[in-house]
Amino acid sequence: MEKKDLKGKKMIVTAGPTREKIDPVRYITNHSSGKMGYAIAEEAVNLGAEVYLISGPVNLKPPRGVYFVPVESAENMYDEVIKRFDDVEIVIKTAAVADYRPKSPSDQKVKKQTGDQFLELERTQDILLELGKRKENQLLVGFAAETNNVEDYAKSKLIKKNADMIIANNVLSEGAGFGTETNIVTMFKRDADPIALPLLSKKEVARKILSEVAKMIKEDIK
Ligand code: PMT
Repeated sequence: MEKKDLKGKKMIVTAGPTREKIDPVRYITNHSSGKMGYAIAEEAVNLGAEVYLISGPVNLKPPRGVYFVPVESAENMYDEVIKRFDDVEIVIKTAAVADYRPKSPSDQKVKKQTGDQFLELERTQDILLELGKRKENQLLVGFAAETNNVEDYAKSKLIKKNADMIIANNVLSEGAGFGTETNIVTMFKRDADPIALPLLSKKEVARKILSEVAKMIKEDIK
């Protein structure tokens, strides 16, 4: 891969988890550390891209050279991504966005009560799905975090969300998925054989993904 293969390309990378408020002291979230998304953002900058890193709350320093946009909830992430979508050529959606949020978050701490408590949840907006609907010339890359039927779910996300590539990881595999320094992914594209990568550092995975992205941009596959 050439050193500056993504020179001048504008890109959104999303990373990390989202937090969905229950009350001022509690929230729903997931295990995403942001490492995979931050590695992609960092490598993309090294390749000459202009990167908006839109990130949920994580304990990582934003890589040098990114435009950093911190967010908290799925709704915040939706707003920040949509705002910039028309202005970019590439979107890579690594974030683990909550699919559900509490329907009626409380402004005051919910006090303990006797008996079981039930939390009513509602769907959040599916950002990738919305981008797939609005897509004009952008290259749209999503992730799929699965625990079973990885290939079937990844292929169905590729079609349903109108993405150009889905990066699937089985988050139950040793060394893959949430929080680790490494990942094991398969890249699914339309009309092409899947590309399965071995266990690699997240930095190496990021390079392979971006090399594929650069190839797709060059061949105008969108
Ligand atoms: O952050 P790390 O600890 O390094 O872990 C990396 C990772 C496991 C988070 C990453 O490799 C990964 O798999 N990211 C996607 C996690 C996820 O939410 O997958 P999903 O299969 O639930 O979602 C599919 C796609 O839709 C994703 O691109 C997701 O960003 C997007 N989505 C999901 C829900 C939603 N409401 N809006 C979305 O845009």
